[in-house]
Amino acid sequence: MTDVLTTIDELRDRLDAARATGSRVGFVPTMGYLHDGHATLVRAARAACDVVVVSIFVNPLQFAPDEDLAAYPRDLARDLRIIEAAGGDVVFHPDVDEMSGATTVTVAGVSEGFEGASRPTHFAGVATVVTKLLAIVGPCRAYFGEKDYQQLCVVRRLVADLSLPAEVVGVPVVREPDGLAMSSRNVYLTPAERAVAPTLYAALGAARAAVLDGARDAAAVEAVMRRVVATAELIDLDYAAVVDAATLAPVDRLSGELRLLIAGRLGRPRLLDNVGVTVPPV
Ligand code: PAJ
Repeated sequence: MTDVLTTIDELRDRLDAARATGSRVGFVPTMGYLHDGHATLVRAARAACDVVVVSIFVNPLQFAPDEDLAAYPRDLARDLRIIEAAGGDVVFHPDVDEMSGATTVTVAGVSEGFEGASRPTHFAGVATVVTKLLAIVGPCRAYFGEKDYQQLCVVRRLVADLSLPAEVVGVPVVREPDGLAMSSRNVYLTPAERAVAPTLYAALGAARAAVLDGARDAAAVEAVMRRVVATAELIDLDYAAVVDAATLAPVDRLSGELRLLIAGRLGRPRLLDNVGVTVPPV
């Protein structure tokens, strides 16, 4: 049976007792409304750690005033069943007061482009809550999805810069059978939008194939993605870019470890996706 704890003190007591007997704590932070992407993170933690903590907290700091905070989908009973089935031991489900404070963590550089450009306050909200959650849970390992690739880079940066004693583990994107990256926000898609949503992944696939075929000019590869997305009228493309996989810095000539990033609005939700590609040295 998965324990649900709502206060920082209760959670600390539970985890201090586990650590005292030598247990290694794994941690999966989420905003709930879980799907198989989240469950995959929990299973990865289960496989490597003794105690698996999953947090469910819809973090107001990472939503801009015009975003979907109040409407963000929630279903705690279903989430608990998914967590239990995936092997989670403890669920941390605090209220907003328990998590509020006057301190903000901002991560320069990697937070600034892409999602950070479209949502200027978003990554400070993510960085602040993730720092606080890591301080509360004190995990050996913390699991984040590559689905939110820029978020993963922001978290890696803050953990390194603040010398937090946790290993950040990135988990590959979990997809629907037609390629659409699983997301809690996919429930907002109308049937017509859902039908064209896999075009984002198709665009990444076409661009990746172009790179593997020898394309070395970033602008040409980005144009491949734009051309594919243009076939789906409902998608309002925000960005399609080739970047350095570690720093997210733009590249002109392609070499080394790269990440193809794409985002667009499809009706109400913005959808994000990405894939990795490596250009071997010549
Ligand atoms: P949330 O969107 O609930 O996602 C929780 C974790 O699940 C993140 O690490 C995210 O990248 C991962 N995830 C979501 N969809 C995935 C998929 N299709 N495949 C693999 N992993 C996937 O991301 C957040 O919450 C918040 O910003 C949070 C980190 C909890 C801070 O509030």
